[in-house]
Amino acid sequence: MTARSIATITVDLGDRGYPVLVGHGARVELAAVIPDGTRRVAIITQAGIPWTVDPGLESIRIEIPDGELAKSLTVVEDVCRQLAVAGFTRLDTIVAVGGGVVTDVAGFVAAVYHRGIRFVSVSTTLLGQVDAAIGGKTGVNLVEGKNLVGAFWQPSAVICDTETLESLPPREFQCGVGEIAKYHFLGGGHLDELSLDERVAACVKIKADVVMADEREGGKRAVLNYGHTLAHAIETAGEYDLRHGEAVAIGIRYAAEVAHRLGRIDADRVAEHERVLSAYALPSKVPDELTDDELLALFARDKKAIDGVTLVLDGPGGVETVVGVDPAVLVGSFEAVR
Ligand code: GLY
Repeated sequence: MTARSIATITVDLGDRGYPVLVGHGARVELAAVIPDGTRRVAIITQAGIPWTVDPGLESIRIEIPDGELAKSLTVVEDVCRQLAVAGFTRLDTIVAVGGGVVTDVAGFVAAVYHRGIRFVSVSTTLLGQVDAAIGGKTGVNLVEGKNLVGAFWQPSAVICDTETLESLPPREFQCGVGEIAKYHFLGGGHLDELSLDERVAACVKIKADVVMADEREGGKRAVLNYGHTLAHAIETAGEYDLRHGEAVAIGIRYAAEVAHRLGRIDADRVAEHERVLSAYALPSKVPDELTDDELLALFARDKKAIDGVTLVLDGPGGVETVVGVDPAVLVGSFEAVR
């Protein structure tokens, strides 16, 4: 930690590497991380985001709509046209200020505008700070599915200003907590014993290590999807009163049960999963309306399902991808989340 209590974690990807600054008020460091040679800055944000930033250079402000619907090619085109009208070129830098929707859209615009310009993310949600803003996955949705169009495009820096979390609505905060619960089982250990700043920094470090080992998700990066197979099935099935992180929490409990039934983890480790989810007041039950058959059918449509149902499961060597899980085990394990 520096005198300002800002931790810096490096995502070391050679010439695509970058710092992630974590701390209360860390956004004051923005001007210091704007890439050298930047002429002007485009701040991409949303009307409802109350945080202003000072890039220390001439800037324009572009607002995108609120909500998941903003993650569209129409919005990307609109933003690119505003950049073109303002005469932005590769000498300029995009600064995203907001949660995952803003950083995903702004990052994708940065990846494609003039075939790629530099961008910095100032992440203002817990989910963004521990996951979405780190690692260079950018993109938008199609009607046919989420995140189907995108690019790996690493930022030049990421700022996780924990002061911005103080005004997050509680459910929005819980969304990030579900992802934090995931990091407990990716080597994080007792993250619940840390302060919020330390916890965010610890999660960023775990994510940075995974991204450094497998930037383009050729293998190991899939562990970041721990708990996500059931979560995505629930989210695809319908509009339930569950945030993404809450759906991930249910998915984590389910994955623990599958791993236990496959003999990969013992009852104590299952209890550890239950303890973590309950320490964070996260749910662990699927909505009653969803039948086992519906969920199984959705598993088969999962992007990982190449050779039978593929899950990310805990085991003696830690969390890893397991191919072709026995359907009888998948069905039996639903009991634990009913
Ligand atoms: N959110 C998962 C990943 O970045 O790979």
